[in-house]
Amino acid sequence: MTLRFVLNGAPVTVGPDRPGAGLDPHVTLLQWLRASGKTGSKEGCAEGECGACAVAFVGADAEGRARFEPVNSCLVPLWTVNGRNVVTVEGIAGPGGELHPVQEAMVQRGGSQCGYCTPGFVVSLFCEYYRPGRAGYDPESISGNLCRCTGYRPIADVARALPYPPADDPWLATLGEPPLPPAAVDSYDSPGPARFERPLTLTRAFECLAECPGAVLMAGGTDLMVYANQRYERWPMLIALDGIAELGRYEETPGEIVIGAGVALSQIEERLAAKHHGELASLEALLPLFSSRLIRNRATLGGGLATASPIGDSAPVLLVLDASVTIASAAGSRRVALSEFFLDYRKTVLGSGDVIVSVHLPRPTPRWQRFYKVSKRVMDDISTVAGAFALDRDSDGKVERLRVAYGGIAATPLRARAVERMAVGRPWTGETIALLARVLEGVGTPMSDHRGSGAYRRAVAGKLLERFFFETSEGPRAAEVRP
Ligand SMILES: Cc1cc2nc3c(=O)[nH]c(=O)nc-3n(C[C@H](O)[C@H](O)[C@H](O)COP(=O)(O)OP(=O)(O)OC[C@H]3O[C@@H](n4cnc5c(N)ncnc54)[C@H](O)[C@@H]3O)c2cc1C
Ligand code: FES
Ligand code: FES
Repeated sequence: MTLRFVLNGAPVTVGPDRPGAGLDPHVTLLQWLRASGKTGSKEGCAEGECGACAVAFVGADAEGRARFEPVNSCLVPLWTVNGRNVVTVEGIAGPGGELHPVQEAMVQRGGSQCGYCTPGFVVSLFCEYYRPGRAGYDPESISGNLCRCTGYRPIADVARALPYPPADDPWLATLGEPPLPPAAVDSYDSPGPARFERPLTLTRAFECLAECPGAVLMAGGTDLMVYANQRYERWPMLIALDGIAELGRYEETPGEIVIGAGVALSQIEERLAAKHHGELASLEALLPLFSSRLIRNRATLGGGLATASPIGDSAPVLLVLDASVTIASAAGSRRVALSEFFLDYRKTVLGSGDVIVSVHLPRPTPRWQRFYKVSKRVMDDISTVAGAFALDRDSDGKVERLRVAYGGIAATPLRARAVERMAVGRPWTGETIALLARVLEGVGTPMSDHRGSGAYRRAVAGKLLERFFFETSEGPRAAEVRP
């Protein structure tokens, strides 16, 4: 098996008769780049936090048009790039070494001191420079890149003053072509026992799972590859899911919205911004708070749910939207309500041959929805407590249905069913909320850790419920809800 991809405009082959043949499947794109002499991309953290390793993939937007997507190359196994078009910081300048406008701006505005973070910022800004529909400064464009030296202002100034590409910009030609489709990876020559597979069908994925006990599925790899890099975990087979069409599906019917388990979060974000106008307001509120654009270009809902992290952000939102998931295995497929999906700490109903195919959100969605994330930093941080709320009221203003879900107050993401039951039929008033807050005190088992004490978490859970009430009862902010 030979791995082929396009790197900075030139075809690259890694295979049995080429240098790099038989690479271990856990080797990341960043490790390979640096070992091949492309040392522009840096390793700062190897866990998706600093952005020093950023490279651009030529990906597709929600309409299938090519676009540059910054990703953390430290979290991408090399074999994932089979069939892809990749641009690293070395490829951004012109053929004669002329600086790209973003590089020129970084020089002019003093955006670099020690320079360690600079290639990552340049790649992120390069992708932003070509982002379709860009209108002015978007802090998100550099939110996944950290710098120790400059104090950020000169770099933010570059982002604020980004010009727009002229019509004869050569990179626009790359974006004018359809993005390369993902290519299968099938049993390549590996030096050790480990294998990497990128099946293009679910059937082939099930075969791989059956062939290799201990094989792991990988969607975006933003969780899995942290374990590979930081804890040196190794698996006998990595099965990349990003070539399987069913997992990339996005569909709307009158009865539901179906999001493929493998759709990147940034694509979901784009679709919601373009279409829904608040129908999935809680999901819309969550996505910008989910790490950085670099991570969201790879991370998926399926991966987030399968980790069953008690502080994962997507579960509380999906729980209040009454989501269910389709799970498939060689034996067939089944639909499971998300409220039945989490069994215990990091345990779900998924068996070893199961793949989450899609997430289903019933319509009509709740009229009032909110998601709140409490973390030490507003952007790019892990939740201490996350709360999601959804409410429908009857014509008298009484509670018809309330959904309350939290991350960070129990061993699993949790629906506060006792609170939900107590609310039904009551007026949406301060007295009702005071009653619900007392019921909430008996829900969950918040623990203490470096992010917050159990008592703090419990207090925050109650305050988020109050906040939801204040934002959805009479008053100026109540007007922000979906009409
Ligand atoms: C820097 C950084 C910041 C982060 N910030 C956040 C944050 O703000 N909020 C948050 O909630 N999380 C965050 N995460 C965690 C991670 O990004 C999420 O859990 C993400 O949703 C994982 O998705 P993925 O596609 O990358 O999963 P992967 O890493 O590919 O997989 C994760 C697990 O799910 C399994 N899996 C993947 N897809 C499927 C499937 N379709 N069926 C069955 N099993 C599957 C894999 O086998 C693996 O065990 C962060 C991670 C990093 C590195
Ligand atoms: S090395 Fe820090 S994000 Fe990749
Ligand atoms: S210039 Fe030194 S880390 Fe950014």
